[in-house]
Amino acid sequence: MLSGKRRLGRGIAVVGAGMSRFGAFKDKASRDLFVDAFVDMQKSVDKGLDITDIQSIFVGNFSSDLFEGQGHLAPMMAEWVGLNPCPATRVEDACASGGVALRQGVLAIASGLYDVVLVGGVEKMTNLPTERVTDALAAASDVLYEASAGFTFPGLYAAMATAYMDKYGLGTEPFMHVAIKNHKNGGLNPKAQFNTSLKDLLEARKVRARDRGQPVPEWKTEMDFLNDPAANPLVAWPMRLFDCSPITDGAACLLLVAEEIAGNFTDRPLRLIGSGQGSDSSLLTRPDITTIGSARVAARQAYEMAGVASSDIKIAEVHDCFTIAELIATEDLGFFAPGEGAKAALEGRTARDGERPINTSGGLKSKGHPVGASGVGQVVEIWHQMRGEAGDRQLRDRDINLALAHNVGGTGNTCVVHIFERR
Ligand code: COA
Repeated sequence: MLSGKRRLGRGIAVVGAGMSRFGAFKDKASRDLFVDAFVDMQKSVDKGLDITDIQSIFVGNFSSDLFEGQGHLAPMMAEWVGLNPCPATRVEDACASGGVALRQGVLAIASGLYDVVLVGGVEKMTNLPTERVTDALAAASDVLYEASAGFTFPGLYAAMATAYMDKYGLGTEPFMHVAIKNHKNGGLNPKAQFNTSLKDLLEARKVRARDRGQPVPEWKTEMDFLNDPAANPLVAWPMRLFDCSPITDGAACLLLVAEEIAGNFTDRPLRLIGSGQGSDSSLLTRPDITTIGSARVAARQAYEMAGVASSDIKIAEVHDCFTIAELIATEDLGFFAPGEGAKAALEGRTARDGERPINTSGGLKSKGHPVGASGVGQVVEIWHQMRGEAGDRQLRDRDINLALAHNVGGTGNTCVVHIFERR
């Protein structure tokens, strides 16, 4: 296993970042979403981008084969944004496909082979009905021992949630606090699939019921709403509807360059200073399913490479595919001690005005989870926050000089962590 401090062969800078809107788009295919993200990224490059400067492209995508009946996606994405004949490679590591594509882009520049690399991620999931999406996603679990025993992804994370509740003597309240926070953040993100806070959503539903002459629900708070099984039905106990990330279409793009040429693109680059990746077994053979070993390994590598500690990180986008996953992530990344992630969520310490804002974008929970794009989309949020361009959700009262992205594949069979610095 990788041990000791590793460093990149060359410095890496992020000089552009963009994304499509995330949501359900009947009339758009992967290629349309990718073009939207690419154009948004191109506009973000302060000094302009001549696309003939791009030397290679890495595309995170979990399964366009199953979702759209279209394999071999990377050269097609290259074609649609006018990059042929530059080499185009698809990267698949389940929901971590985007984060691992980023790491491949980093390694390609650090090796000295390329100076300018496009990293993208894309997934078009809503062509299929929910039950078929669930089956397709289950291909990212252990099909021999997990899917064949009836586990779906909500079921696998539900197992982690029950183990966590049992170990720390908790109910479901901390999960609900994660959902409230992330929907509140997503309400400030115009590109989020759910661009509404739960407070606004419940008020809108009351108005709808009144207009239709139906009984008006008596919810006063978000907790009333989340505790109402009619509004927030069970998916796999204890995970309810609002504990789950949605089924999403979307794409995101980043422009990476060798640090020494970053000034050709912008005077305000982000430096990518830490990268780590780990793997873990299926849930059934893990000694403890209240933590993700690959995340701990990836975080340790990234912190060591960056020369920073978890306490130095100002904001993080973490992989909240289910609310339980955010709690576990904040512990695996060292922000809180084991079992304390739940307490921190309850106390609002991970809210936008808390000591350690987590998922200011709305996270996968509210922004949406187009699985192959999610890891790249996380860095788009970091780009905006670090450059002070996050609009209504911009954190204004702090200097965001260090940020972290944490992207998980499966139940943690893969995890990749990246750390960014703004000087
Ligand atoms: N959170 C909150 N609301 C959601 C939602 C979610 N995850 N998914 C759907 N909704 C809302 C819809 O907007 C819709 O609201 P409306 O009635 O006001 O229009 C309503 O719930 C029904 O939507 P629908 O698409 O019919 O839901 P569904 O029952 O088919 O799917 C889930 C809901 C939770 C099963 C689905 O989102 C899911 O499978 N999520 C997990 C995806 C996953 O496993 N990803 C990989 C993670 S590792």
